[in-house]
Amino acid sequence: EQCEAVTREVLAAHRGQPGALLPILHDIQDRLGAVPPELLPLIAEDLCLSRAEVHGVVSFYHDFRATPPGRQVLKLCQAEACQSMGVKALTAELESKLGLPLGETREDGSLSFEPVYCLGNCACAPSVMLNGELHGRVDAEEVLALLAEQGA
Ligand code: FES
Repeated sequence: EQCEAVTREVLAAHRGQPGALLPILHDIQDRLGAVPPELLPLIAEDLCLSRAEVHGVVSFYHDFRATPPGRQVLKLCQAEACQSMGVKALTAELESKLGLPLGETREDGSLSFEPVYCLGNCACAPSVMLNGELHGRVDAEEVLALLAEQGA
């Protein structure tokens, strides 16, 4: 199928390149929007690595995703400064109002709700990033208003 064909192309393009695993994973994600877990054995075999090694790298870097993102992406910072400003409660409130657990994408692909670990905006915690745009000192109402503005 298509994902496998794309993966084979990417692998071929990096053949013989030392340390190719990360560039390969990035290329696959650029083209497919994700690094689907079912492709990992193919990548491991091609690079003569164990599946565990490839899996370890994919899960170590937070930038790789198992499924493509929704059309809108809401990232909510879960790191220390935001925690001290009540992001746990904010997370729970948004999960219930959006009907979407943190870390998941709506089935219709309209929205992904993702944790992120520091957006470099600690002085204005809690921080969110909606479709690449940073917003600080937010509460649930503001986040919902921002989403409504974007038609989510
Ligand atoms: Fe949330 Fe830095 S800890 S922006």
